[in-house]
Amino acid sequence: MPRLVVDPAFVVGAVDRRLFGSFVEHMGRCVYTGIYEPGHPAADPDGFRSDVLELVRELGVTAVRYPGGNFVSNYDWEDGVGPKDQRPRKLDLAWRAIEPNQFGTDEFVAWAGKAGVEPVWAVNLGTRGIKEAVELLSYTNLPAGTELPDRRVANGHEAPYGIKVWCLGNEMDGPWQIGHKTAEEYARLAEETANAMRRVDLDLELVACGSSNSGMATFGEWERVVLERTYELVDHISLHAYYEPRDDSASFLAAAEDMERMISSVIATADHVKALKRSSKEITLSFDEWNVWRQSDFPGELGLGIREVSPLIEDTYTVDDAVVVGSLLITLLRHADRVKIACLAQLVNVIGPIRTEPGGRAWRQTIFHPFALTAKYAGPTVLQTAISDGPEIDTASFGRVPALWSTATYDEKTGEIAIFVVNRSETDKIDLQIPVGGLRLARHLALYDDDRAAVNTADDPDRVVPRVIEGTEIVDGVCTATLPPASWHLIQLTV
Ligand code: AHR
Repeated sequence: MPRLVVDPAFVVGAVDRRLFGSFVEHMGRCVYTGIYEPGHPAADPDGFRSDVLELVRELGVTAVRYPGGNFVSNYDWEDGVGPKDQRPRKLDLAWRAIEPNQFGTDEFVAWAGKAGVEPVWAVNLGTRGIKEAVELLSYTNLPAGTELPDRRVANGHEAPYGIKVWCLGNEMDGPWQIGHKTAEEYARLAEETANAMRRVDLDLELVACGSSNSGMATFGEWERVVLERTYELVDHISLHAYYEPRDDSASFLAAAEDMERMISSVIATADHVKALKRSSKEITLSFDEWNVWRQSDFPGELGLGIREVSPLIEDTYTVDDAVVVGSLLITLLRHADRVKIACLAQLVNVIGPIRTEPGGRAWRQTIFHPFALTAKYAGPTVLQTAISDGPEIDTASFGRVPALWSTATYDEKTGEIAIFVVNRSETDKIDLQIPVGGLRLARHLALYDDDRAAVNTADDPDRVVPRVIEGTEIVDGVCTATLPPASWHLIQLTV
């Protein structure tokens, strides 16, 4: 019978809580009628939807990246501050929508405060550069007394915001990016921007752009070139990845294999540069866009007419999608020693775990649940999990891979262990044994359904929710649990 062995002695690393981050971009209805909708019955005095804020808190999100995404690469941050009636309407080149600029830097900081999340900021290195990045940082982080922070104070915000994490551009390797660059061009700009930003504020964490996905022709080489230039100036290198069912559903359920390989490759590349530089510094990873996204359904920017803010990539997530999202979170945790920031992209409406109706309801998509449960139950330390006698599955994309995909966390203070495990077999249930010593079962929750295509909607928002698994038991120090095909699980053990 398959066995999962976990022991507090075998530590992977400490969980940086920013691993449970998300992403708000000025795209589709993520901001407008997503988190911000003055006039909505649930809008607070700032125009923030309090029904959405409640769901964001329940989701357990810790950090939110803003304002893009591709949007940032042609964004003039100055348009989004000051009196709202004087802010310009402008064409956003990324998504070809009219940006009304009614929500900007000060609104996002206020929203993040209410949501209880740390803002992670991206600067425009597409159409702009060093000067504008430094000016934005001065606006947000400097105390009053010079022009830019004085503008912030004049806009009603006396205290500096102290934003710590800054992304040096977005997906600059992608030809779709406004201001797309070669690795050498980007590396020089990132180096100079990082150098200048550090003169404004020494207490920053800077993220250099890595690859937009592991299939980019420049993947691997891009990271090497960028890090060779910026190694001592930046803290993290970014990774992005979106997954969708393509050829076979087995490959989709095993999408974590790609994420696993991508993370390992970026770590190897960063450590190669470390060796070249004889550096004692270790670069960590910011997986600042990841999710399931049926990207092949997206017509592309040029397939969109110029229009007012309107729905864009509002994917409705299935049970399978939730199982995959759960397995991607497992992968991020498995690399907790090197992945310090991760952002589920995006937060609301645009490929989001939360959906809203303009003027109406807000609800949890299927993918909300594995994220919320992982964020809630993951302890401070990730432990290795070893699986013996586990079955394997065949996939078109990754070959033969283990059916079980797992990680575990440990809380030294309480002695609790949380095991997160996915059964990626589409056909077979797995009876799993876990030696637990003197621990007892606190809960076994799972996400699966006979109808793997089931979704949540405004009218049926709880069609897919986590289920309590009743049959799991501990006999003579061994926990036995049955994992149905295509299912995600949290098994929490307590003293
Ligand atoms: O999240 C949607 C888009 O995907 C982002 O704007 C971009 O960074 C990525 O390609």
